Amino acid sequence: MNILIAEDEVELIEIIEFLVQDFFPEKVTTFLAKNSVEAIEVLTNNSIDLCISDHNMPGGNGSKILKYIMQNNLSISFVLSSTVTPQELPNEYPIDNVLYHIQKPDVISGVKALSAIYKLQKPESAAVMDLEMIFIPVSLHFVLLLEKAPSDLYIRISDSKYLKCLNGGEPFGMDDNAKYLSKSVSKLYVKKPSNEELLTQLLSAAISKLMKKSDLPLNEKMSIIHAQICDLIQFTGMSEEIAAITKENVNQTVSIIMKNNLLDDFWKGLNLMGEYPSQLYTLHSMLASVVVKKLSWSSEATMFKLTLAAFFQDITLTNLSLVKVYDHQHFLEIKADYNNKEIKNYIDHPLKAHDIIVTMKGIPADIDKIILEQHEMPDGSGFPRKLNANQLGPLSCLFILCGLLARFILNEGENFAIDNFIDKFEALGYNKGNFKDSFNVIKKFTLKQE
Ligand SMILES: [Fe+2]
Repeated sequence: MNILIAEDEVELIEIIEFLVQDFFPEKVTTFLAKNSVEAIEVLTNNSIDLCISDHNMPGGNGSKILKYIMQNNLSISFVLSSTVTPQELPNEYPIDNVLYHIQKPDVISGVKALSAIYKLQKPESAAVMDLEMIFIPVSLHFVLLLEKAPSDLYIRISDSKYLKCLNGGEPFGMDDNAKYLSKSVSKLYVKKPSNEELLTQLLSAAISKLMKKSDLPLNEKMSIIHAQICDLIQFTGMSEEIAAITKENVNQTVSIIMKNNLLDDFWKGLNLMGEYPSQLYTLHSMLASVVVKKLSWSSEATMFKLTLAAFFQDITLTNLSLVKVYDHQHFLEIKADYNNKEIKNYIDHPLKAHDIIVTMKGIPADIDKIILEQHEMPDGSGFPRKLNANQLGPLSCLFILCGLLARFILNEGENFAIDNFIDKFEALGYNKGNFKDSFNVIKKFTLKQE
């Protein structure tokens, strides 16, 4: 087994090297790197199985190494060895891409616990299955809401190894949730049932239970459900059952949103759960509801279109950092950081999302148009069709603007100021043509705050 250790403290790197040699069940060859540049060089020239990396290092932190592994689709398990946890930096260390976190300074316990994972992977362990079967992710939030394991639950050790951790029907509470989160596990897996209907029945029962929960804010419900359905689509593809579940859920969501009168600055108090695409969906839909109401265009049918479009807009984008990109102008500025495959995937994503939505039966005709036009720009320099502010319909313009605002709020975090949003996007012409009405509504958000 080849293990790369990236660590700038000379003494510590030797201790970790000694520990992996001592604790790991099989023969280990170590490769040492004092910084991320050296680490990436090792990854380029050697076949590495596991990378144990520090966070703070000269020349770029550990996330640079993880990014390299992810961008090149390398099957290398990544372990963060730091006082910083992946939960604290979820954008730099997506939890699903971090096998384990060694909590410094206690590297002895950390490496010992890490080696235990590999001991469990040895083929003689009866609990481990080397599977060609398909496993489907279920988020911890979801299992927590069900209060019990919906069927046998597994923990993912690597691409092909799943370890059973809970029997179907066993209770699952806050303590269990905390236990997995502390191990950087955010998802468990169920074995795909032979009958696909069973899976969708299970999911749809859980979703309606979740929607009925009165002690959970709508935004949290929306994020959890969005993440779960997207996971399912990415694993099993779009099916009629999944389409039906999604439509039903978006319908329920819209009827709640329409009854609630959200304030102009409601997002300040919002605790958005989960990862970026789900946070974006939630915020984007809620902002759209505020704007359509102020424009008096609001009807459940319009909100349904906007919410479903928000749900699916970035469904084929797996690279989180690209979901955050505002528009084509912004994309051109950061394009050099991405490889050709990622660039093509980004440019194609409105079309791919459009192709998915048209397979869904019985949805209003213009949703696919809104999805297709999600990244067009007022001056006609957007993509894919290069439509300008006069060629785009008012609803597409509203959708685009609320998408920009949602991203701006999420990207800026505590530094968010609506004036900055107005200045930045007015300069790009987002106040012109059919953007004008929606832009003016958002502009008044500022006046309200003064
Ligand atoms: Fe997008």
